[in-house]
Amino acid sequence: MVNELDGKVAIVTGGASGIGRGIAERFVAEGSRVVIADVATDMGEQLAATLGGAAFFQRTDVSDPEQVGALIAATVEKFGGLHVMVNNAAVSSPLRRLLDDDLSDFHRIMGVNVLGVMAGTRDAARHMAESGGGSIINLTSIGGIQAGGGVMIYRASKAAVIQFTKSAAIELARYDIRVNAIAPGSIPTPILGKSAAGMDPDELAEFEARIRQGMRDDRPLKREGTTDDVAQAALYFATERSRYVTGTVLPVDGGTSAGKVVRPRKREG
Ligand SMILES: NC(=O)c1ccc[n+]([C@@H]2O[C@H](COP(=O)([O-])OP(=O)(O)OC[C@H]3O[C@@H](n4cnc5c(N)ncnc54)[C@H](O)[C@@H]3O)[C@@H](O)[C@H]2O)c1
Repeated sequence: MVNELDGKVAIVTGGASGIGRGIAERFVAEGSRVVIADVATDMGEQLAATLGGAAFFQRTDVSDPEQVGALIAATVEKFGGLHVMVNNAAVSSPLRRLLDDDLSDFHRIMGVNVLGVMAGTRDAARHMAESGGGSIINLTSIGGIQAGGGVMIYRASKAAVIQFTKSAAIELARYDIRVNAIAPGSIPTPILGKSAAGMDPDELAEFEARIRQGMRDDRPLKREGTTDDVAQAALYFATERSRYVTGTVLPVDGGTSAGKVVRPRKREG
């Protein structure tokens, strides 16, 4: 089978862990060269070493637009171009009731989850506009589509990513740059434990077990999602197969956001 990303260059922010790592691995397997951009230096360097000459790590804090600009420049210098930008890096908010929340995490979370995506989109697009186009893929969440309690700042940040993605898609279409978003449902990665900051180990174990049980029970496709399930959606947006698709939000959630699972009653008689 032909590698779908032969000759392409991609950046994956937050590529050292979880879903970003899954996307980086899938893209390299499909022939792409990939820049892993993350604040987790050890994990990022280790992953790049595992992936060999097709990957390199650049320490980047996406909440700092200067570092994002430097990331694009380093990528173009090292690999000669940029075709696919995956704005995946994000942080979660701690699980707190709104009335108990001092909102002190607001700027940190918005800085990574919203400013990081906006700067990544803008700076990748500045290059792509001059070089014949490209594909930009922003990670949102079903938490940005469906309302719910708990991680309010995170939800608000992910809703902002959706509106930004659609607006950027409209502006950038004239340069043949497509901008789409992927909205994963809960996927077991380190981010889930981070929402539980402050819990004691027993509470954390119970919290994670409950979330993972929910992943199997409350969605029409009754299994936990994997990072590669999300990477396959990113691969679609990265390739020419999605050439007429822009401004969309694709849930990768086993059907969770389609609606409640209804268990039909047994027919009588
Ligand atoms: N796992 C889920 O259940 C889930 C659900 C919906 C959406 N998402 C989204 O998927 C994406 C990936 O999440 P994940 O589950 O793999 O989380 P994760 O915590 O495993 O990975 C996030 C990565 O981003 C990096 N990062 C954090 N702050 C950064 C910064 N300022 N600059 C650069 N890198 C930074 C982290 O070091 C980490 O490697 C996120 O956008 C997240 O919101 C995840």
